[in-house]
Amino acid sequence: MTGYRFDEVINRLNTGCRKWDAVEEVFGSKDVLPFWIADMDFAAVPAIQQALQAKANHGIYGYNTVGANFYESAQYWVKARHQWEIDREWILSAPGVVPSINLAIQAFTAPGDEIIIQTPVYPPFFSCIVKNKRQIIENPLINSNGYYEIDFEDLESKITPRTKMLLLCSPHNPVGRVWTKEELLHLSDICLRHNIIILADEIHSDLIFKGHKHIPVASLSPEINQLTITCISPSKTFNIAGLYSSFMITADQEKRDLLCQVMDALDFSKGNLFAVAAVEAAYYEGAAWLDQLLPYLESNAEYAVAYIGKHIPGIKVKKPEGTYLAWLDFRELFQEPALLKEFLIKKARVGLNDGTTFGKQGAGFARLNFACPRSQLNEGLVRIKAAIDGQK
Ligand SMILES: Cc1ncc(COP(=O)(O)O)c(C=O)c1O
Repeated sequence: MTGYRFDEVINRLNTGCRKWDAVEEVFGSKDVLPFWIADMDFAAVPAIQQALQAKANHGIYGYNTVGANFYESAQYWVKARHQWEIDREWILSAPGVVPSINLAIQAFTAPGDEIIIQTPVYPPFFSCIVKNKRQIIENPLINSNGYYEIDFEDLESKITPRTKMLLLCSPHNPVGRVWTKEELLHLSDICLRHNIIILADEIHSDLIFKGHKHIPVASLSPEINQLTITCISPSKTFNIAGLYSSFMITADQEKRDLLCQVMDALDFSKGNLFAVAAVEAAYYEGAAWLDQLLPYLESNAEYAVAYIGKHIPGIKVKKPEGTYLAWLDFRELFQEPALLKEFLIKKARVGLNDGTTFGKQGAGFARLNFACPRSQLNEGLVRIKAAIDGQK
């Protein structure tokens, strides 16, 4: 069996990658070690590299067709990985999950309609709603000592006749919860009773740690299946986000027709020549690589949590159940979010995502992306510790 070298440090500087090359633009300083945007500092599985090289070697990059294999690869993957059997017809191709959220908002809601999000949450959940002139309804998660749960009572109490959709982040970015069957059933029961469409962003669904299981919400019952549009992508799983390719899955023919109408109007559904090759390689040939990646990610999470517990106890953090994101609570150390931000950039020289961008519940928090070689993660943690010790 091939052993992949996730410990290898690969220089990404000056490759046009946002995580490293946009550091000065984003943090106002070049001297910042990046742990922000959600991609990984690991090389993609060789099968993907070979598929892309084969395309590149051909030398002609004209308009391409998207064959059945592309859709079947997604069908194959969700069945093999999540025991979810989907029909080929349910699957639509899209250039990313965020574009798909925008598309679904336009297809199923009208300006002024209300859309629920469960905060703190991935920042584009806010901006997709605002940019489309819909109303954000916040259903904040309950934080019990760093363990986050859905507030079902609050959720139901916020629903009005104008509430049309819920954006579900499953698993949840940034709090790292892998929602249980019971939680998903409870949530979908509320949505079914009020006829609220579930837009399930399951982009992190393959990044699940020991003892947890991702359940596609749509797989729970035929009724929930009809109510849900699921977005998946190999982009996080296989570190190919720069190829911009994802899938929207919905069993309801009417919903698909509406989505297709908007897609046609925007000429939205063509698959990029390189992306198609990479997605097929990822889904058909990437499982063994992923099975080695997951323990590496999980041990990075454990390492970070143990290091923080031992050396920086002022920061509170729980090991996530999935994703490669840790949600760090600095509130004991910093009362002012602006001071935390300045501290991380100027004193610690690390680039984390500012917690306030995930909603007001994120004040005093920062999100750490630990999908990098252990040595790099360690360097970031050492920098934070040294800067905190230097403040004392
Ligand atoms: C929950 C979630 N949804 C969507 C995305 C981005 O998706 P895409 O690049 O396909 O638009 C991310 C990236 O971090 C994410 O965390």
